[in-house]
Amino acid sequence: MGDHPQPMRAIAAGVMLAVENGQSLSQCLPPALNRLPPNERPELQALCYGTCRWFHRLDSELNGRLKKPLRKPDRIVHHLMLVALFQLRFSQQATYAVLNETVEACRALDKPHLTGLVNGVLRAAEREGAPEPATDAARFSHPVWMVEKLRHNWPEDWQRILEANNAQAPMTLRVNALRFNRDQYLGLLQEAGIEAGPTQFAPHGIQLASPVPVERLPWFADGAVSVQDEAAQLCTTLLDLAPGQRVLDACAAPGGKTCAILESCAELAEVVAIDESADRLPRVQENLDRLDLVATLKQADAAAIEQWWDGEVFDRILLDVPCSASGVIRRHPDIKLLRRESDIVPLAAIQLGLLDAMWSILKPGGRLVYATCSVFPQENHRIIQRFCKQQTDAILVEPDAQWGRDMGAGRQLLPDPFSHDGFFYAVLEKPEP
Ligand SMILES: C[S@@+](CC[C@H](N)C(=O)[O-])C[C@H]1O[C@@H](n2cnc3c(N)ncnc32)[C@H](O)[C@@H]1O
Repeated sequence: MGDHPQPMRAIAAGVMLAVENGQSLSQCLPPALNRLPPNERPELQALCYGTCRWFHRLDSELNGRLKKPLRKPDRIVHHLMLVALFQLRFSQQATYAVLNETVEACRALDKPHLTGLVNGVLRAAEREGAPEPATDAARFSHPVWMVEKLRHNWPEDWQRILEANNAQAPMTLRVNALRFNRDQYLGLLQEAGIEAGPTQFAPHGIQLASPVPVERLPWFADGAVSVQDEAAQLCTTLLDLAPGQRVLDACAAPGGKTCAILESCAELAEVVAIDESADRLPRVQENLDRLDLVATLKQADAAAIEQWWDGEVFDRILLDVPCSASGVIRRHPDIKLLRRESDIVPLAAIQLGLLDAMWSILKPGGRLVYATCSVFPQENHRIIQRFCKQQTDAILVEPDAQWGRDMGAGRQLLPDPFSHDGFFYAVLEKPEP
């Protein structure tokens, strides 16, 4: 391929191939962005996010247009055509530019024998227009198993969930309550010419009318605000924090909720933040530093308590478990390609294991909040039901909340195209002896 810089579309096709092979966009996109000058990076990002978002629809169309699949070594050209189809179907780019530049990118990828095919497929796609999606998976652009699971789990809501997953997520802020109240910060935004309003349920939340780079946010570098979805912000209201409490954030990275906890109650005795990922834990410290907050960080498997616990029980535990992330697909459309149906049962076992372990280090009279960014009951209220069957002393607390749905064992927020992500919360209390 030589040393000459690759065209953006060729780079985008490489990113899509990496995602198909199991890498997340957050892993493979940053190095790809660095191969382009800064002014071209937003476009590459939009191409990769958009192609992931519409992958299942575009792939269904492309497979219908190909007489036979490309050979494995040419698979990158399949992705190159998906990127071009994304532009034809979902962008304002002029058709001739998409066609010419895609053919050029095909050459740059050292696949000159496929330029005729690429040109022919894209010309036909342009001439014939988008086909009527043949299946719900193609129509809603999700893998078949997700469509079926959502239809089964949410017979009334599955289509709305799928549509919300394809919407552009809003940019939401959490005002650092130690610095400003929400109205003050809304005033600062207005002065800066940034249109925004308060979130409906989270007390410190602000939703922007359209996203802006964080550098434009008043006092961002000084810790006035953080970017955090409204649903994620709700954890602090559920924890019922009070001065003097010792709090554990058991799955903490990148630290959004750790920081929200520290901001919402200034005089906590200690906040311990654990994450098993050595790569992700430093992000917690970076966020704490920007906000001028202090927590005790430990890299550990939270469930292996003998490896990290000092023997002092916690008044409050937030357990924001690893999950399918099926409630945040609109922010991470690569989940559609990465997640497998077979992931869910092992995830549920990890979730229940973490819950068991955390329960054992919760103080009698203490409170544990279980959270996921999933919309699958298997990871949500069914985990809580399974746990309460084993742990008969656990008291399920019904939060006094205006948001979400009561699932009998926790509350579920479904993703809302105009506001919050999909999330689940359950509140458990341990009785005093
Ligand atoms: C949903 S994310 C947490 C998001 C975080 N609470 C926030 O608000 O910024 C789940 C985290 O759990 C971590 N994790 C997974 N298994 C773990 C375990 N057994 N012990 C501790 N952390 C774990 C992952 O590395 C990941 O960072």
